[in-house]
Amino acid sequence: APVMAGRDFLSNLDMTAAELRAVMDTAHSMKRGEWRGVKPLTGLSLALVFEKSSLRTRTTFDVGMYQLGGHAITLSNTEIGLGTRERVSDVARNLERWVDGVMGRVYLQQTLHELADHAAISVINGLSDMLHPAQLLADYQTIEEEFGPDLRGKRVVYIGDGNNLANSHIHMGILTGSDVTIVTPVGYEPNAGVLMDAVDSGTRITLTRDLAAIEGADVLYTDVWISMGMEAEADIRRRAFRGYQVTPGMLDTLAPEGIFLHCLPAHYGEETVPEATEHPKSRVFDQAENRLHAQKALLYHLLGDTKPRW
Ligand code: CP
Ligand code: NVA
Repeated sequence: APVMAGRDFLSNLDMTAAELRAVMDTAHSMKRGEWRGVKPLTGLSLALVFEKSSLRTRTTFDVGMYQLGGHAITLSNTEIGLGTRERVSDVARNLERWVDGVMGRVYLQQTLHELADHAAISVINGLSDMLHPAQLLADYQTIEEEFGPDLRGKRVVYIGDGNNLANSHIHMGILTGSDVTIVTPVGYEPNAGVLMDAVDSGTRITLTRDLAAIEGADVLYTDVWISMGMEAEADIRRRAFRGYQVTPGMLDTLAPEGIFLHCLPAHYGEETVPEATEHPKSRVFDQAENRLHAQKALLYHLLGDTKPRW
């Protein structure tokens, strides 16, 4: 049965460890094909609102709704002008009359909270400046495929920019007990509020600028140095992150069973090189595939109890 019925998913901390376990179990089962022909979201619609570009998030939420019997409608910001053509709160009060959930890819996390505050339907974070929680569901599905469901003490090392991905990694450390290390240059550390979430929960997160932390890692993860919307800082950032590139040589220093993950898109020549995403330790394309399975599981657990209103 759905474990998060009707709720919002703006952060991984919007779920408990037990709810995450249920979503992961469903995701693995969906990937094994055990839900073929099962259509729990028949008659339901999800709006996909994009302030920024997307390949994976757009495709997997759309195909995921279709495979579960529902329907998705993509709204680009040139069409709806969130906050410019119309107030965010009014967009929320319109969408809730027609659709059963909204996924938003937005500049500001605050925009998602504003949508959620003014719409009774589920709001799902499809990436903000602060967090990318749906991505982390696919990431941990991929990690579980390698190491099994008990990740306590597994060394997950994130290297690069202390951005939305780094922040969501900290949240997953809180939820799963994985041993999270964030390696960034000085001045590019994760969000202070997210670090406080770790302190409040009694979870130890290691912050360092020392690349030696990578040695023996079970999971090495990186993301772009210049996130969408940060293009004006490109030159400063390329200089600041020099030396933090994930190379095949770096992958050779991981644990024997260690794996390399990247949420993609990759900016080759910056945070990594094609020889790393194509390396035997790379799981990045399985990880991309898992966006579909993990989000279908999430959609089932959020919307699976919703009755079509028509
Ligand atoms: N990883 C990810 O969210 O990819 P897109 O930006 O293509 O959706
Ligand atoms: N940190 C990147 C992730 C893209 C999926 C960005 O925000 O652009």
